[in-house]
Amino acid sequence: MHFTINGQSREANPDIRASLLDVLREHLALTGTKKGCDHGQCGACTVLVNGRRINACLTLAVMHQDDDITTIEGLGQIGNLHPLQDAFVRHDGYQCGYCTPGQICSAVGMLDEVAKGWGSHVSGDLTEVDLNDDEISERMSGNLCRCSAYPNIVDAIREVAKA
Ligand code: FES
Ligand code: FES
Repeated sequence: MHFTINGQSREANPDIRASLLDVLREHLALTGTKKGCDHGQCGACTVLVNGRRINACLTLAVMHQDDDITTIEGLGQIGNLHPLQDAFVRHDGYQCGYCTPGQICSAVGMLDEVAKGWGSHVSGDLTEVDLNDDEISERMSGNLCRCSAYPNIVDAIREVAKA
């Protein structure tokens, strides 16, 4: 089957039971996306599919024929970091870094959702979302960080959101 991954055409012939996460890591050698729980609970495996953030462990690769997938490798590179990668570094938004690819992919998807005006569980005004710290925390609540770098993660996302 065929995917577009990080702007490149890629082919794989996975077992029909294989998750998108396993195909990215094991078949396509894109190991930037991490496997934490493999149960949709930690967010470490978050990638963007057709611009929307999803948990790659909870979806079968065969459901994504011809989809446009972005992993952390497609967001920035050494010397040319994505603004969120740069902000995470400057704000010390990670400690072990294991959750960081998922956090950053999730934040990219989340900022796009805010730009589209989508509300969240804590939005006070659905006509104009104010991306305050409560909103950032709520919208990033699917991404766990065992090191508890949360305050710095929120600082990094807030800075990029306001830029
Ligand atoms: S590995 Fe997918 S949510 Fe934890
Ligand atoms: S930086 Fe270690 S789990 Fe988040």
